Amino acid sequence: MRYKITTIYFVVPYNTLVKQRIASIIVYSAKTDLRYHLYLIFAEKLPYMAKKVHPYKDSELGKKEQVTKMFDAISGEYDGLNRVISFGIDVRWRKKVVRLLKEKQPKTILDIATGTGDLAIELVHTGAEKIVGLDISPGMLEVGKDKVATKKLDNTIEMIVGDSENLPFDEASFDAITVAFGVRNFETLDKGLSEIYRVLKPGGTLVVLETAVPTKTPYKQGYHLYTRNVLPLIGKLFSKDNSAYGYLSESASVFPHGVAFNNILAKIGFIAIENMPQTFGVASIYVATK
Ligand SMILES: C[S@@+](CC[C@H](N)C(=O)[O-])C[C@H]1O[C@@H](n2cnc3c(N)ncnc32)[C@H](O)[C@@H]1O
Repeated sequence: MRYKITTIYFVVPYNTLVKQRIASIIVYSAKTDLRYHLYLIFAEKLPYMAKKVHPYKDSELGKKEQVTKMFDAISGEYDGLNRVISFGIDVRWRKKVVRLLKEKQPKTILDIATGTGDLAIELVHTGAEKIVGLDISPGMLEVGKDKVATKKLDNTIEMIVGDSENLPFDEASFDAITVAFGVRNFETLDKGLSEIYRVLKPGGTLVVLETAVPTKTPYKQGYHLYTRNVLPLIGKLFSKDNSAYGYLSESASVFPHGVAFNNILAKIGFIAIENMPQTFGVASIYVATK
């Protein structure tokens, strides 16, 4: 026999967060008198975002540029369609984020991926002195700026164009950071979360509100029916951008939620991480501390 398998062994999980094991198979060749090492990686759970989802299937632009283009295109209709597709529950979820943060009495808050500013505006109820809303889409921000001006909140809320993956702030600048329905749009999730960690003060709080996928019957089946069939149809009928609502539901279905997202936050360095599923598990609020 020219090749003989001499040893097969497993090493202990080398990454406990993603529960990976490496099997090393050593194959010995009598002919060449050499040992060949084959490594097989078994992941109980794929790390996250196994499938990268982009808004436009045929575009050569990177995810970041596509996301900016898409949100610019739908900025005028975003608030109205959002209320319709979420049956207005998104308003309740944002209020809950505000209630959770109010307990921490933050003086400065950064709302990342602020979009048209709904959460930034609601965050005024925490009593914060300064709220900065940051978004990569100038179109979304224009709508947000108008809302802030109409509510005469310009002294408290500042709206700026910026990229979550390269935040224009010094280390430890904010008491609290929020992101509502934004993290799943980041091109590189780790980079965005590391930047958040950097600009948050030690002991500061991060609150993330993001879509999730229900795990229990019949909510799971109802959720898939709604997101795969109804939501893209609403988008096609009422949105200026045909692919936008298909992208929003597809990106929600592949985004790591629950424990998987907790693990990612822990890997970045956050502590005291809590995950609070909302409304049959169709969304989750994550609270973490630096
Ligand atoms: C679904 S909207 C959410 C808007 C708002 N937070 C809300 O609760 O309605 C997602 C927003 O994330 C923004 N976004 C996506 N990638 C971003 C990035 N890298 N940096 C900053 N904002 C980003 C988009 O422009 C968009 O306005």
